[in-house]
Amino acid sequence: MASLTASAPGKVILLGEHAVVYGKPALAMAIDLRFRCTIAPSDSVLINGWEIDRAKHPYTSHILNEHWRGGIEIETSSDIPSGSGLGSSAALCASLNTAIMAYGMEPDEEVCARRSFEAELNAQGSASPVDTSASVHGQGIAVNLEGGKPLWGISHAERRWSISHLDVPRLTLVIGHTGISAPTGPLVAKVRRYYEHSNFAKDIVDEIGSLTEDAAKALSSGDRVGLGSMMTEDHKLLSILGVSSRELDKLVQAALPYSFGAKLTGAGGGGSMIALTDRPDKVCEAIERRGGRPYVVSSGQPGAIIEK
Ligand code: PMV
Repeated sequence: MASLTASAPGKVILLGEHAVVYGKPALAMAIDLRFRCTIAPSDSVLINGWEIDRAKHPYTSHILNEHWRGGIEIETSSDIPSGSGLGSSAALCASLNTAIMAYGMEPDEEVCARRSFEAELNAQGSASPVDTSASVHGQGIAVNLEGGKPLWGISHAERRWSISHLDVPRLTLVIGHTGISAPTGPLVAKVRRYYEHSNFAKDIVDEIGSLTEDAAKALSSGDRVGLGSMMTEDHKLLSILGVSSRELDKLVQAALPYSFGAKLTGAGGGGSMIALTDRPDKVCEAIERRGGRPYVVSSGQPGAIIEK
């Protein structure tokens, strides 16, 4: 049987990370950095020409165990730096599931989003469906936002996330990757300790929640100035929660003179920051000068698709 290629985008969280763990809304946007998987049925199980090592490829192994019978050849390539908080593992899961599903069934975003979430959960031990839903659906998604166009709901343990479509106007963002890989789990645990012992931390989480609701309105009216200042405010609140770092603060400060606003994105600690700007070249230069790696990305990106 012929080979086929699927691709899926990475993502950034525009606002609401960490507070979303406590049921507040979050807004995420697909970016034009993509992960590609080409697959073909085969006699053996090969990934990029090598027999698959299941310990090294936990996402792929889970997906194959659950959804593929027989041998397969998989070739992968990615624009998304791994460990950057930009959703590379989610995009791997979304693109591989999309490719595999094309062999046996009609395309179904919800099924693909669930399968991709389960693969992340299995490989990482914990996960939220934000990255995988953003990668499968593309464009923008909101989590736990009242009044959105509902896409699907996903539950695990005591958490339930309701995912809806988010209209994102034409936006340019510059991502600044610190080059530091910071796993999500310990940062979420750090915020939880603070949240459980301090009313002040609970107030900060509430404030992030209302800021994110306001940001959704700014997005739908195309108010970049308003959205930018809310992003910068969100960065300050996240810093109070203890999830920023010297490197992230440095890149945010470098970007601000040329931006509507800037903030860390995702779990923090290391990973990446984003700046909303109409002067991407200036922001890229400023980020590079402070030791970060810049990527210019724009909104309106398709989700997981079959390319050929
Ligand atoms: O894994 P990241 O870097 O995209 O961030 C996850 C977002 C958090 O709110 C920090 C955690 C979560 O489970 O929602």
